[in-house]
Amino acid sequence: MKDFKKGLEGIIALETEISYIDGVKGILEYRGYRIEQLAKLSFVSIIHLLLHGKLPTIREHDQFSNMLKERRELDVHTKEVIHFYNFNIEAMDALMTAISHLSHSDPDLNSNSHEENISKAIRLIAKAPTAVAYFQRIHEDKEIIKPNELLPHSSNFLYMLRGEIPTVLEAKILNVDFILSAEHELNASTFAVRVTASTLSDIHSAIISGIGTLKGVLHGGARLAVMNMLDEIGDPKKTEKYVMNLIKNKQRIMGFGHRVYKVVDPRADIFRDLAKKLAEEKKDMKWYEMATKIEEVVTRELVEKQGKTIYMNVDFYSGVIYKYLDIPPKLATAIFALGRITGWLAHALEQYKDNRLIRPRAKYIGDHHTPE
Ligand code: CMC
Repeated sequence: MKDFKKGLEGIIALETEISYIDGVKGILEYRGYRIEQLAKLSFVSIIHLLLHGKLPTIREHDQFSNMLKERRELDVHTKEVIHFYNFNIEAMDALMTAISHLSHSDPDLNSNSHEENISKAIRLIAKAPTAVAYFQRIHEDKEIIKPNELLPHSSNFLYMLRGEIPTVLEAKILNVDFILSAEHELNASTFAVRVTASTLSDIHSAIISGIGTLKGVLHGGARLAVMNMLDEIGDPKKTEKYVMNLIKNKQRIMGFGHRVYKVVDPRADIFRDLAKKLAEEKKDMKWYEMATKIEEVVTRELVEKQGKTIYMNVDFYSGVIYKYLDIPPKLATAIFALGRITGWLAHALEQYKDNRLIRPRAKYIGDHHTPE
């Protein structure tokens, strides 16, 4: 049997046309377009690009956007399930439950054809934000706020969550957040989605595998950990000491390090600029100042002194942005999922198109007990 790599590090497991990463040059592309270029577009364009393989024309964009708007509301049974499960349950668990339920109310329940899977994908992208917003409103003992067809995808989510129409900058930032979170090659959750799809299980089940995997603190859960870290520090003046302590105790600094990037994650750079703009709009530099200080100490201590390639990743400044957007920390990973669901769906569709069951081997290192 061939050698194995712990964590499958560096192993090419499959071919894809969906995204490209150069971890040394800090390049990320979705279907050949650089992330910096895509971050200037609407999330609807990115959904179209990832699902259909091309950016939409203006007409296609409007049609596609309307299609998503019309599909935002949840069926009555899924709403009941969200109500029922609303006792001390995590948002990611509620999202898995809601999606599991949505599969049974989907009009194309019994088909796994490409066309029908595209329809299911559009419905899932449209409904997932509603499920998360309803969950949070019910959790806070507030009235649910129905989707507003006049608002674009990201503004509508913030509106359903907070009950007020977001500022232009807030809406723009969440739009960018969804775009930057949408896709990232064969990360752990996308791999989980493809493994599930490769068994020819249905697309809803594949997405549930992705959500369960994204939940972990080494993956999507790092965003929540960053928010918790900022709260724990509490004061920009205490930042240096706090980070030095983590480093002294060989603890990980959340929002730093990456399996693929050996330079700054290009998504993190985009988020840093937006976090600064948002801090200025809110006239509150506290979280931004803390974040830049953390970055300074990590760079000085781990990169310059110890020669490690531990730079900030996508979760670092997005955690800062969520603080300014007043996102409840427990929703942080679920909001990541609202962006990433698009990439997962694109990968599930790609897997179904040219499927081969994903079934690697394990190297047995236990004992062999030979019969006497
Ligand atoms: N803080 C301090 N040291 C770190 C960190 C960190 N955040 N990340 C890695 N290291 C050190 C680690 O201790 C090890 O040191 P040594 O060689 O002396 O033992 C070295 O760097 C290599 O670490 P590794 O665990 O072998 O690297 P990996 O490729 O398995 O880890 C990672 C990647 C993302 C799991 C890790 O960097 C980490 O735990 N980061 C914190 C959690 C986080 O921010 N996760 C979000 C990842 S990006 C979002 C996504 O794409 O999903």
